[in-house]
Amino acid sequence: MQYDIKDINLAPEGKMRIEWADREMPVLRLIRERFTQEKPLAGLKLVACAHITTETANLARTLQAGGAEATLIASNPLSTQDDVAASLVADWGIPVFAIKGESTETYMSHVRMALDTNPNIIIDDGSDVVATMLKEKKELASSIIGTTEETTTGIVRLRAMQTAGVLTFPSIAVNDAQTKHFFDNRYGTGQSTLDGIIRATNILLAGKTFVVVGYGWCGKGCAMRARGLGANVVVTEIDPIKAIEAVMDGFRVMPMSEAAKVGDFFVTVTGNRHVIDKNHFESMKDGAIVCNSGHFDLELNLGSLREMCHAPVSRRPFVEEYTFKSGGKSVIVLGEGRLVNLAAAEGHPASVMDMSFANQALSAEYLVKNKGKLSAGVHVLPAEVDQEIASLKLRSLGVNIDTLTPEMLEYMSSWETGT
Ligand SMILES: NC(=O)c1ccc[n+]([C@@H]2O[C@H](COP(=O)([O-])OP(=O)(O)OC[C@H]3O[C@@H](n4cnc5c(N)ncnc54)[C@H](O)[C@@H]3O)[C@@H](O)[C@H]2O)c1
Repeated sequence: MQYDIKDINLAPEGKMRIEWADREMPVLRLIRERFTQEKPLAGLKLVACAHITTETANLARTLQAGGAEATLIASNPLSTQDDVAASLVADWGIPVFAIKGESTETYMSHVRMALDTNPNIIIDDGSDVVATMLKEKKELASSIIGTTEETTTGIVRLRAMQTAGVLTFPSIAVNDAQTKHFFDNRYGTGQSTLDGIIRATNILLAGKTFVVVGYGWCGKGCAMRARGLGANVVVTEIDPIKAIEAVMDGFRVMPMSEAAKVGDFFVTVTGNRHVIDKNHFESMKDGAIVCNSGHFDLELNLGSLREMCHAPVSRRPFVEEYTFKSGGKSVIVLGEGRLVNLAAAEGHPASVMDMSFANQALSAEYLVKNKGKLSAGVHVLPAEVDQEIASLKLRSLGVNIDTLTPEMLEYMSSWETGT
C-alpha cells in the first residue's frame, strides 16, 4: 500500500483519539453498522479530500465498511493531524497522503496521486480535486459516478464550473443540507475558531474588541461565541440583509475601514479574497491579532503585509509577529492565514461532524443508488435525508419532540379556516 504521512509510529495515539471522537458520533456509527451489512459502496474506488482529523477518520471507516476502496488526502496543508493519518494507515489499512505543514507543491502532488487511483466517487472539500481533474486529467471524468462537496467555498466553485459548462457529472452539495451548515458552520466554526485563537495566543478575550468579517453561518457562530467570552463584537458585511441581522442580534456593524482601527482581534469568514487588505493592516492598532477561518488563505492580503513589514518573527506555534518597516507597530497573524480552527486547534468537535459526515456517507450511497439517473450539475440531498439525520441525532441526545396530530395535519393542509 502506498501512502505519504509524517510518522507511522504515531498510530497508537491517533487510534485512541479516533475512538474518543467516535463516542460523539452516534449517527455516523449507525450508518457504519448498516453499511457493514449492506455494502452499498462495494467495489468502488473513492477519493476523500478532507481535513485529516479524528472525525474524518470515522467517516473513512464508514466508507470502508460500506465496501469502498478509499484513499484520503488533506484538504489543507496545515490541517492534518499526523497521528490520525498514521492510525488510518496502520490500523485500518487506508492509504493517506497528508502531512501537517506540507508545502503547496506537496499538497498538489497528493491531489494528483489520489486522482491516479482513477476514482468513481470524489468527496471534496473546497473543490481542489474536482478542479484539478477538470483542468489536468479530464479523461478521468468518464469513470466518475458523482462527487460530493463539503464546504461553502467548494460549492461556489462547483456552481461556477456548472455555469462554464464543464461539470459533466452530478455533484452533491453536502454543505447545503440543513443538518450541515446550520450546525457545522455555525456551532462548529464558532467553537473551534475561538478554540484556535485561545490555544494559539492564550490571551483573554473579555473586554477586547473582536471583529468578525462576514456574518454568514460561520460568522454568526464566531460572533456568538466571542460575545459569550465577554468580547465587544463588531461585524463587517457587504450584504445589507446580513448586516441588519447582525444589528438586530445586538452587534455593532461598520465598514472594515473603521473596524480596522478599533479591533484587537480580527477573524475573516467570508469565502472572499483580500477582505482584510493593505490599507486595513496599515490602520490597525499595534499588536492587533488577525486570523482567518474561511476555507482558503486568501482572505487576508498577506502579500501586502509581507511587503510592508520585516520578516515575521515566530512568537509561539502558529503565532507570527509582523513589524512594520515604517515604525514600531506590529500585527500578529495566526496560522499563516489558513483556517485557524484547524491549524491551531483540532477543527470542529465530533458531535457536529457527526451530522456533516452522516450527510457525506449518505450522499455517496445516494450517488450509487441513483447512478445514471441524476443530471450533471449541483444537487442537494432530498429533504427526507436531512430530517432523518436530525431525528437520529435527537434520539441519540435523548431528546423527544412532538408529532403532528391528525387535527393539526388537517388544519395545515386546508385553506378554508381563517378569521
Ligand atoms: N473554518 C471552518 O472549519 C469552516 C467551516 C465551514 C465553512 N468554512 C468556510 O468559511 C467561509 C464562510 O462560510 P459560510 O458558510 O459562513 O458562508 P456564507 O456564505 O454563509 O457567509 C459568508 C458571508 O461573508 C460575507 N462577505 C463576503 N465578502 C465580504 C466582505 N468583503 N466583507 C464582509 N463580508 C463579506 C457574505 O455577504 C456572507 O454573508 C467559506 O469559505 C467556507 O467554505 C470554514
